[in-house]
Amino acid sequence: MWIEGPLRGKVALVTGAGSGGIGRAICSRLAAHGAAIAALDLDPAGLDATVTELSGTGVPVQSIAVDIADAMLLDQAVDRAVDVLGEIDILINCAGVVDKAKAIIDTSDEDWDRVFAVNVRAPFRLIRKVAPGMMRKRAGRIVNITSSSAHRARQSLPAYGASKSALMQLTRSAAAELGTHDINVNAIAPGLTKTPMLGAAFDEAMVEELLREGPLANLLGRVSLPDDIAEVALFLCLPASRQITAQTIHVSAGAVV
Ligand SMILES: NC(=O)c1ccc[n+]([C@@H]2O[C@H](COP(=O)([O-])OP(=O)(O)OC[C@H]3O[C@@H](n4cnc5c(N)ncnc54)[C@H](O)[C@@H]3O)[C@@H](O)[C@H]2O)c1
Repeated sequence: MWIEGPLRGKVALVTGAGSGGIGRAICSRLAAHGAAIAALDLDPAGLDATVTELSGTGVPVQSIAVDIADAMLLDQAVDRAVDVLGEIDILINCAGVVDKAKAIIDTSDEDWDRVFAVNVRAPFRLIRKVAPGMMRKRAGRIVNITSSSAHRARQSLPAYGASKSALMQLTRSAAAELGTHDINVNAIAPGLTKTPMLGAAFDEAMVEELLREGPLANLLGRVSLPDDIAEVALFLCLPASRQITAQTIHVSAGAVV
Protein backbone atom coordinates (compact mmCIF):
# COMPACT_ATOMS: atom_id res chain seq x y z
CA MET A 1 0.00 0.00 0.00
CA TRP A 2 1.27 3.49 -0.91
CA ILE A 3 2.41 5.02 2.33
CA GLU A 4 0.64 8.15 3.69
CA GLY A 5 2.85 11.12 4.51
CA PRO A 6 3.45 14.80 3.96
CA LEU A 7 5.06 14.14 0.55
CA ARG A 8 2.30 11.92 -0.79
CA GLY A 9 1.40 13.06 -4.31
CA LYS A 10 4.86 14.56 -4.86
CA VAL A 11 7.37 13.19 -7.36
CA ALA A 12 11.06 13.32 -6.41
CA LEU A 13 13.85 12.87 -8.94
CA VAL A 14 17.09 11.80 -7.24
CA THR A 15 20.43 11.42 -9.05
CA GLY A 16 23.11 9.18 -7.59
CA ALA A 17 20.23 7.04 -6.35
CA GLY A 18 22.03 3.75 -7.00
CA SER A 19 24.73 4.47 -4.46
CA GLY A 20 24.67 2.60 -1.19
CA GLY A 21 25.65 6.01 0.16
CA ILE A 22 23.78 9.28 0.37
CA GLY A 23 21.53 8.93 -2.72
CA ARG A 24 19.82 5.73 -1.59
CA ALA A 25 19.40 7.07 1.93
CA ILE A 26 17.67 10.18 0.55
CA CYS A 27 15.37 8.05 -1.65
CA SER A 28 14.42 6.00 1.43
CA ARG A 29 13.62 9.06 3.54
CA LEU A 30 11.53 10.73 0.82
CA ALA A 31 9.67 7.50 0.01
CA ALA A 32 9.01 6.86 3.71
CA HIS A 33 7.21 10.23 3.73
CA GLY A 34 5.12 9.38 0.68
CA ALA A 35 7.01 10.76 -2.34
CA ALA A 36 7.11 8.79 -5.61
CA ILE A 37 10.74 8.33 -6.65
CA ALA A 38 12.52 8.63 -10.01
CA ALA A 39 15.90 7.09 -9.24
CA LEU A 40 18.72 7.90 -11.69
CA ASP A 41 22.23 6.47 -11.64
CA LEU A 42 24.96 5.01 -13.85
CA ASP A 43 24.87 1.75 -11.94
CA PRO A 44 21.93 -0.57 -12.81
CA ALA A 45 22.73 -3.07 -10.02
CA GLY A 46 22.82 -0.27 -7.48
CA LEU A 47 19.46 0.98 -8.76
CA ASP A 48 17.98 -2.52 -8.37
CA ALA A 49 19.10 -2.52 -4.73
CA THR A 50 17.48 0.90 -4.23
CA VAL A 51 14.21 -0.31 -5.79
CA THR A 52 14.25 -3.33 -3.47
CA GLU A 53 14.86 -1.11 -0.45
CA LEU A 54 11.93 1.14 -1.37
CA SER A 55 9.51 -1.68 -2.11
CA GLY A 56 8.16 -1.78 1.46
CA THR A 57 6.88 1.80 1.18
CA GLY A 58 4.54 1.04 -1.74
CA VAL A 59 5.36 4.34 -3.43
CA PRO A 60 5.70 4.34 -7.24
CA VAL A 61 9.37 4.02 -8.18
CA GLN A 62 10.94 4.39 -11.62
CA SER A 63 14.63 3.56 -11.86
CA ILE A 64 16.57 4.79 -14.87
CA ALA A 65 20.17 3.80 -15.62
CA VAL A 66 21.77 6.81 -17.30
CA ASP A 67 25.03 8.70 -17.56
CA ILE A 68 23.93 12.13 -16.42
CA ALA A 69 26.95 13.69 -18.15
CA ASP A 70 25.29 12.87 -21.50
CA ALA A 71 22.89 15.70 -22.36
CA MET A 72 20.61 13.73 -24.67
CA LEU A 73 20.35 10.67 -22.41
CA LEU A 74 19.69 12.87 -19.38
CA ASP A 75 16.92 14.68 -21.21
CA GLN A 76 15.32 11.38 -22.24
CA ALA A 77 15.61 10.04 -18.69
CA VAL A 78 13.72 13.01 -17.25
CA ASP A 79 11.04 12.73 -19.96
CA ARG A 80 10.59 9.06 -19.09
CA ALA A 81 10.33 9.80 -15.38
CA VAL A 82 7.69 12.47 -16.05
CA ASP A 83 5.74 10.17 -18.40
CA VAL A 84 5.58 7.44 -15.77
CA LEU A 85 5.30 9.39 -12.52
CA GLY A 86 4.19 12.90 -13.48
CA GLU A 87 5.81 16.34 -13.26
CA ILE A 88 8.83 16.59 -10.93
CA ASP A 89 8.14 18.39 -7.62
CA ILE A 90 11.45 17.67 -5.90
CA LEU A 91 14.88 17.51 -7.50
CA ILE A 92 17.84 16.15 -5.55
CA ASN A 93 21.16 16.60 -7.35
CA CYS A 94 23.16 14.01 -5.43
CA ALA A 95 25.29 12.19 -8.04
CA GLY A 96 28.90 13.22 -7.83
CA VAL A 97 32.36 12.11 -8.78
CA VAL A 98 35.62 12.84 -7.07
CA ASP A 99 39.05 13.13 -8.65
CA LYS A 100 41.43 10.46 -7.53
CA ALA A 101 43.50 12.43 -4.99
CA LYS A 102 45.74 14.17 -7.52
CA ALA A 103 47.75 17.36 -7.27
CA ILE A 104 46.90 20.19 -9.66
CA ILE A 105 50.07 19.53 -11.66
CA ASP A 106 48.94 15.91 -12.22
CA THR A 107 45.31 16.72 -13.10
CA SER A 108 44.51 16.46 -16.82
CA ASP A 109 41.90 18.45 -18.75
CA GLU A 110 39.94 15.21 -19.07
CA ASP A 111 39.95 14.69 -15.26
CA TRP A 112 38.73 18.24 -14.78
CA ASP A 113 36.03 18.08 -17.46
CA ARG A 114 34.61 14.78 -16.22
CA VAL A 115 34.21 16.09 -12.66
CA PHE A 116 32.54 19.29 -13.86
CA ALA A 117 30.27 17.45 -16.31
CA VAL A 118 28.79 15.33 -13.52
CA ASN A 119 29.00 17.68 -10.52
CA VAL A 120 27.98 20.97 -12.15
CA ARG A 121 26.71 20.71 -15.72
CA ALA A 122 24.24 17.88 -15.04
CA PRO A 123 22.65 19.68 -12.03
CA PHE A 124 22.42 22.84 -14.16
CA ARG A 125 20.70 20.94 -16.97
CA LEU A 126 18.34 19.23 -14.54
CA ILE A 127 17.33 22.50 -12.89
CA ARG A 128 16.75 24.04 -16.34
CA LYS A 129 14.67 21.03 -17.35
CA VAL A 130 12.41 20.68 -14.30
CA ALA A 131 12.01 24.35 -13.31
CA PRO A 132 9.29 25.16 -15.90
CA GLY A 133 7.04 22.40 -14.51
CA MET A 134 7.63 23.62 -10.95
CA MET A 135 6.89 27.20 -12.07
CA ARG A 136 3.58 26.07 -13.59
CA LYS A 137 2.65 24.42 -10.28
CA ARG A 138 4.05 27.30 -8.24
CA ALA A 139 5.78 24.79 -5.99
CA GLY A 140 9.09 22.99 -5.98
CA ARG A 141 12.08 22.00 -3.90
CA ILE A 142 15.60 21.60 -5.23
CA VAL A 143 18.44 20.30 -3.09
CA ASN A 144 22.02 20.20 -4.38
CA ILE A 145 24.57 18.06 -2.57
CA THR A 146 27.80 20.05 -2.45
CA SER A 147 30.65 19.35 -0.02
CA SER A 148 32.65 20.82 2.83
CA SER A 149 35.49 20.64 0.27
CA ALA A 150 33.98 23.80 -1.26
CA HIS A 151 34.69 25.67 1.97
CA ARG A 152 38.13 24.47 3.01
CA ALA A 153 41.63 24.66 1.61
CA ARG A 154 42.44 21.12 0.60
CA GLN A 155 45.21 19.41 -1.27
CA SER A 156 44.69 16.80 -3.96
CA LEU A 157 41.07 17.32 -5.04
CA PRO A 158 41.29 20.48 -7.18
CA ALA A 159 38.48 19.75 -9.64
CA TYR A 160 36.19 18.36 -6.95
CA GLY A 161 36.47 21.38 -4.64
CA ALA A 162 36.04 23.82 -7.50
CA SER A 163 33.04 21.91 -8.87
CA LYS A 164 31.28 21.91 -5.49
CA SER A 165 31.89 25.66 -5.11
CA ALA A 166 30.33 26.14 -8.53
CA LEU A 167 27.33 24.04 -7.49
CA MET A 168 26.93 26.14 -4.35
CA GLN A 169 26.83 29.31 -6.42
CA LEU A 170 24.41 27.71 -8.90
CA THR A 171 22.20 27.03 -5.87
CA ARG A 172 22.14 30.73 -5.03
CA SER A 173 21.49 31.81 -8.63
CA ALA A 174 18.65 29.33 -9.02
CA ALA A 175 17.16 30.37 -5.68
CA ALA A 176 17.27 34.02 -6.76
CA GLU A 177 15.54 33.29 -10.08
CA LEU A 178 12.96 30.82 -8.84
CA GLY A 179 12.08 32.14 -5.39
CA THR A 180 9.06 34.20 -6.44
CA HIS A 181 7.71 31.09 -8.18
CA ASP A 182 7.58 29.39 -4.76
CA ILE A 183 10.53 27.16 -5.55
CA ASN A 184 13.10 26.73 -2.77
CA VAL A 185 16.66 25.89 -3.79
CA ASN A 186 19.19 24.88 -1.14
CA ALA A 187 22.43 22.96 -0.81
CA ILE A 188 23.71 20.50 1.74
CA ALA A 189 27.47 20.42 2.26
CA PRO A 190 28.35 17.08 3.82
CA GLY A 191 31.65 16.56 5.55
CA LEU A 192 33.36 13.19 5.62
CA THR A 193 30.56 10.63 5.18
CA LYS A 194 30.85 6.86 5.22
CA THR A 195 29.92 5.91 1.64
CA PRO A 196 31.50 4.07 -1.32
CA MET A 197 32.86 7.42 -2.59
CA LEU A 198 35.11 7.73 0.43
CA GLY A 199 36.78 4.44 -0.49
CA ALA A 200 37.26 5.63 -4.07
CA ALA A 201 39.32 8.62 -2.93
CA PHE A 202 41.06 7.42 0.24
CA ASP A 203 42.01 4.11 1.83
CA GLU A 204 40.75 3.21 5.34
CA ALA A 205 43.96 4.18 7.16
CA MET A 206 44.00 7.54 5.43
CA VAL A 207 40.38 8.20 6.47
CA GLU A 208 41.27 7.46 10.12
CA GLU A 209 44.19 9.84 9.96
CA LEU A 210 42.17 12.58 8.26
CA LEU A 211 39.46 12.29 10.92
CA ARG A 212 41.96 12.59 13.76
CA GLU A 213 44.12 15.45 12.66
CA GLY A 214 44.06 15.92 8.91
CA PRO A 215 42.29 18.60 6.90
CA LEU A 216 38.97 16.75 7.23
CA ALA A 217 38.96 16.62 11.05
CA ASN A 218 35.69 17.72 12.67
CA LEU A 219 34.55 18.92 16.08
CA LEU A 220 32.67 15.74 16.93
CA GLY A 221 35.54 13.49 15.88
CA ARG A 222 33.30 11.13 13.97
CA VAL A 223 32.41 10.41 10.38
CA SER A 224 28.82 11.15 9.26
CA LEU A 225 26.50 8.42 8.01
CA PRO A 226 24.35 8.71 4.86
CA ASP A 227 21.22 9.03 7.03
CA ASP A 228 22.65 12.16 8.67
CA ILE A 229 22.59 13.84 5.25
CA ALA A 230 19.27 12.29 4.21
CA GLU A 231 17.42 13.64 7.27
CA VAL A 232 18.40 17.19 6.35
CA ALA A 233 17.50 16.64 2.69
CA LEU A 234 14.06 15.46 3.82
CA PHE A 235 13.63 18.55 5.99
CA LEU A 236 14.45 20.77 3.00
CA CYS A 237 11.58 19.11 1.09
CA LEU A 238 8.97 19.44 3.85
CA PRO A 239 6.57 22.36 4.47
CA ALA A 240 8.50 23.10 7.70
CA SER A 241 11.39 24.55 5.65
CA ARG A 242 9.26 26.82 3.44
CA GLN A 243 11.16 29.97 4.44
CA ILE A 244 14.61 28.52 3.78
CA THR A 245 16.16 29.14 0.37
CA ALA A 246 19.58 29.89 -1.17
CA GLN A 247 21.28 28.37 1.87
CA THR A 248 24.02 25.82 2.28
CA ILE A 249 23.39 23.62 5.31
CA HIS A 250 26.62 22.12 6.60
CA VAL A 251 26.26 18.55 7.81
CA SER A 252 29.89 18.05 8.67
CA ALA A 253 30.04 17.62 12.45
CA GLY A 254 31.49 21.11 12.63
CA ALA A 255 34.24 20.58 10.06
CA VAL A 256 33.37 23.99 8.65
CA VAL A 257 32.78 26.80 11.14
N1 LIG B 1 31.06 10.66 1.06
C1 LIG B 1 31.53 11.83 1.43
O1 LIG B 1 32.40 11.94 2.33
C2 LIG B 1 30.99 13.09 0.80
C3 LIG B 1 31.36 14.31 1.36
C4 LIG B 1 30.89 15.49 0.79
C5 LIG B 1 30.03 15.44 -0.30
N2 LIG B 1 29.66 14.26 -0.83
C6 LIG B 1 28.77 14.29 -1.98
O2 LIG B 1 27.63 13.51 -1.75
C7 LIG B 1 27.10 13.01 -2.98
C8 LIG B 1 26.86 11.53 -2.86
O3 LIG B 1 28.11 10.93 -2.63
P1 LIG B 1 28.34 9.50 -1.98
O4 LIG B 1 29.40 9.68 -0.97
O5 LIG B 1 27.04 8.85 -1.62
O6 LIG B 1 29.05 8.84 -3.23
P2 LIG B 1 28.84 7.49 -4.04
O7 LIG B 1 30.02 7.36 -4.93
O8 LIG B 1 28.48 6.40 -3.13
O9 LIG B 1 27.57 7.89 -4.91
C9 LIG B 1 27.62 8.67 -6.05
C10 LIG B 1 26.67 8.04 -7.04
O10 LIG B 1 26.68 8.87 -8.19
C11 LIG B 1 26.62 8.01 -9.31
N3 LIG B 1 27.20 8.66 -10.48
C12 LIG B 1 28.47 9.06 -10.65
N4 LIG B 1 28.64 9.52 -11.89
C13 LIG B 1 27.45 9.43 -12.52
C14 LIG B 1 26.99 9.73 -13.81
N5 LIG B 1 27.81 10.24 -14.74
N6 LIG B 1 25.71 9.49 -14.12
C15 LIG B 1 24.87 8.96 -13.20
N7 LIG B 1 25.23 8.64 -11.95
C16 LIG B 1 26.52 8.87 -11.62
C17 LIG B 1 27.45 6.80 -8.92
O11 LIG B 1 27.15 5.67 -9.72
C18 LIG B 1 27.08 6.62 -7.47
O12 LIG B 1 26.00 5.73 -7.31
C19 LIG B 1 28.13 13.38 -4.05
O13 LIG B 1 27.70 14.51 -4.77
C20 LIG B 1 29.37 13.70 -3.24
O14 LIG B 1 30.21 14.62 -3.91
C21 LIG B 1 30.12 13.07 -0.30
